[in-house]
Amino acid sequence: MSKFHQKVVLVGDGAVGSAYAFSLMQQGLAEELVIVDVIKERTRGDALDLEDAQVFTAPKKVYSGDYSDAKDADLVVITAGAPQKPGETRLDLVDKNLKILSSIVKPVVDSGFDGIFLVAANPVDILTYATWKFSGFPKNRVIGSGTSLDTSRLRVALGKKLNLDPRSIDGYILGEHGDTEFAAYDEATVGAKPLRQVAEEHGITDAELAEIEDQTMHKAYEIINTKGATYYGVATCLMRITKAIFRDENAILPVGAALDGEYGLDDIFIGTPGIINATGLAGVIEVPLSETEKAKMKASAETLKKVTQEGLA
Ligand code: NAI
Ligand code: 2OP
Repeated sequence: MSKFHQKVVLVGDGAVGSAYAFSLMQQGLAEELVIVDVIKERTRGDALDLEDAQVFTAPKKVYSGDYSDAKDADLVVITAGAPQKPGETRLDLVDKNLKILSSIVKPVVDSGFDGIFLVAANPVDILTYATWKFSGFPKNRVIGSGTSLDTSRLRVALGKKLNLDPRSIDGYILGEHGDTEFAAYDEATVGAKPLRQVAEEHGITDAELAEIEDQTMHKAYEIINTKGATYYGVATCLMRITKAIFRDENAILPVGAALDGEYGLDDIFIGTPGIINATGLAGVIEVPLSETEKAKMKASAETLKKVTQEGLA
């Protein structure tokens, strides 16, 4: 897909969708961006507003469109769906957002779309799985944002604690993008040294690491309780995945990926590092988990499978 003209159809022009569109503009990614939403006036206004950014970034055709525009698109990004209200969990959104998703995936596929789906609407692991089911696409062409945002949050928190650039921390949040996720601390490294060793050298206890994991897991609630929604973080994750696809990077990124035996799991999309290139998900990196972490991954997967089965029944 490293061709000159790359086209994105963004479905869902709310807080997350519009932040992603702005991030694409700023990064000069994709020559064509089509915005689709049930609120047509908003997409028209956003396209007009966004096109004003191109003089100082890169030329782009940006317009309000519909599902038929997906026929020759390279990427369809789904950010349409209800966000959590204060007090709601991501899993509480499953019924209403599965309904919205089914009204999107079918017309996209009917348009003749033959690219890659990238899903961010919540509960994202279940909606990514449903996108795969509804579309009939091969698994490698359906990617979720998974635990990309959570991994970013973990690295930011560890970076602050260790006084290091968060990009220098190689560690992941795995599992559900939600309340059963966990930090794979036992395999995390900083400058090729085990994170646990570096933490000890900095006088950081296991209890403090556990607190950082807990804060990471609850950060979305903290933000939602203050300003009502989170969007810049995930928009940047989506931009990063888009860049890895469009530039055929073979980058290892935290995503929501289909598993095929990794971690002893299958028939599920869940947060793990994966290799992202122009074909979509080119491979899953199975983190060699400790026994305790394996149990956490299994429990997270069981939660997702249960809610998926109920939601799709
Ligand atoms: P929002 O309410 O600001 O935007 C949602 C948009 O979807 C609205 O513009 C709405 O008109 C549109 N929409 C609703 N039904 C539609 C349909 N049938 N077809 C087309 N468009 C439709 O919500 P926000 O804050 O943008 O969140 C969107 C989703 O992203 C939520 O499910 C939220 O939980 C999720 N999210 C996921 C994150 C992640 O890390 N994966 C992080 C932050 C939010
Ligand atoms: C987040 O983690 C709400 O899923 C959203 O920010």
